[in-house]
Formats: sequence, C-alpha cells, structure tokens
Amino acid sequence: MSDLDKKIVLVTGGSTGIGRATAHILAREGAVVIIADLQDAEGAKTVDDIRAAGGTAEYHHVDVAEYDQVTALVADVAARHGGLDGAFNNAGIEGPTAKIQAVSLDDWQRVIRVNLTGVFVCLKAEIEQMVKQSRGGSIVSTASVAGLIGLPGAASYNAAKHGVVGLTKTVALEYASRNIRVNAVCPGFIETPMLNRVTDASAKIREQLIGQVPLKRVAQPSEIGEMVCFLLSEKSSYVTGQALAVDGGWIAQ
Ligand SMILES: NC(=O)c1ccc[n+]([C@@H]2O[C@H](COP(=O)([O-])OP(=O)(O)OC[C@H]3O[C@@H](n4cnc5c(N)ncnc54)[C@H](O)[C@@H]3O)[C@@H](O)[C@H]2O)c1
Repeated sequence: MSDLDKKIVLVTGGSTGIGRATAHILAREGAVVIIADLQDAEGAKTVDDIRAAGGTAEYHHVDVAEYDQVTALVADVAARHGGLDGAFNNAGIEGPTAKIQAVSLDDWQRVIRVNLTGVFVCLKAEIEQMVKQSRGGSIVSTASVAGLIGLPGAASYNAAKHGVVGLTKTVALEYASRNIRVNAVCPGFIETPMLNRVTDASAKIREQLIGQVPLKRVAQPSEIGEMVCFLLSEKSSYVTGQALAVDGGWIAQ
C-alpha cells in the first residue's frame, strides 16, 4: 500500500493540465484529493473521473491569491478530514510574451498576484495548519525552468517563478525542524492548455521548442505528476528545499 493512502492532499489548479494529471496520480495512490481552482466545470470533471476510477476527490472554487478563501478552505478541509498532510501549489497563469518595455504594470501585477502571491498565501495557510497538527507534512509548488534561468520575453513570469524557488528554499529551512518538507518542481515544456495558449497552438512554434529539448519532445502532464507524487510521499523523506527540473534535459545544456 502507498504511504499516501488516506493522506489529505490539496491540489491547486487541479481543474486542467499538470494539476489535473497530478490529482489523478495522487488519487491512484489512495490520497484524498482536494482540488482548488476557478474553472468549476473542468474541476467537476476531474473529480468525476477520479471517482469513476475508484478514487476520492472533491472540488472547491478558490482563488489562490485570496488569503481569506485559502485559509477558509484549509480550515474546512482540516475540520472535515482530520488535517492536511500534503499540498501541491500549482495554480498559475502565463504572462505576456514581450520585452520589458512592452510589459504593462497591470500585466506584471496580474502574473505576480497568481504565480507568486498565490504560492505565498497557500504556503502560509498550509504551514499554519501543519504546525498546528504536529505530524509533519510535504508541500510541493510548481515553479518552472523559468524559475532557474532567464527567459527573454517573460519578465513577469520569470520573476514570479524565481520567487517561488526562493520561497521554497526559505520556507523549507524555516520548517525543517517540524519535519515539514517544502520543494518545488520546475517543468520544461508540458502538453497542457497553457502550452497551447503560449504557442498559439502553432505547429511551427512547437517544433522550435522541441528542437531545444535534448529528449526531443514535450512532456505529458503525468510526467510532472509522478515527480510531484514522489516528493509528496515518504519515498522522498530526505529531500527538502529543492527545485527539481523536469525538463527533458533542457537546462543541463
Ligand atoms: N505547461 C507548461 O509547459 C509549464 C511549464 C512550466 C511551468 N508550468 C506551470 O505549471 C502550472 C500548471 O500549469 P498548466 O500548464 O497545467 O496550465 P493550465 O492552464 O492547464 O492549468 C492552470 C490551472 O490553474 C488554474 N488557476 C489559474 N489561476 C488561478 C487562481 N487565481 N486560483 C485558482 N486556480 C487558478 C486554472 O484555472 C487552471 O486550471 C502553472 O503554475 C504553470 O506556470 C507549466
């Protein structure tokens, strides 16, 4: 039996893409999956599919950047399920593709609000609950290869994802003594609705991206999900404060 069996795990941005695939994998391992997202119909579909496969999941309409909404969700989940064991802070949005001169303050604030403040808010609420429980925990946030290297044309997204990596290291150090592990996963190019939006679903742009990747393909969302599942499980019990690239070898070049 998996050590994630019956564990209560929050997944933000679980309605589609990487979050949805990870929710399926966690449910396969026996976790009780709590999905928080803004896309209600897609969230309901994720839950229905998990239940149809014999898993346990529920959906909540929550904006990850709203502190009151996130703390209310964590309190409600802890009260009904007896605590919170793990979390995948994954909700995110793409930014504009433009050099900094063409990035408006509104664009900057929109991206920072979800991709950085959202992770801060979730970490804060989750840690608060885990400290109260005194039984440790594991948290993974989605950064990106854009959190590890510079990417021209993605200033706000790049800054937010570097921020997620910094938050991960610091919060991991702050709570290691409580046995709360905090890591980040840094995906490369993953087959999700976001990738289609960023590439305008253009075959030519896709081929250019694939050309940069040593493994010569984009990844399926489940390939991130398996890494996240590992980091949330006891199999990674000595791993904390890390930002792990899952990128087909891209940034090793
Ligand atoms: N697809 C890639 O190639 C790639 C690469 C690196 C990192 N990422 C990161 O992976 C994460 C997941 O992205 P994805 O590719 O699965 O895209 P996606 O658009 O399929 O999924 C993102 C999910 O987050 C939700 N979301 C957005 N804002 C929210 C908010 N304020 N509150 C709650 N939920 C919100 C969306 O509704 C959506 O369901 C993001 O953090 C993204 O930056 C993706």
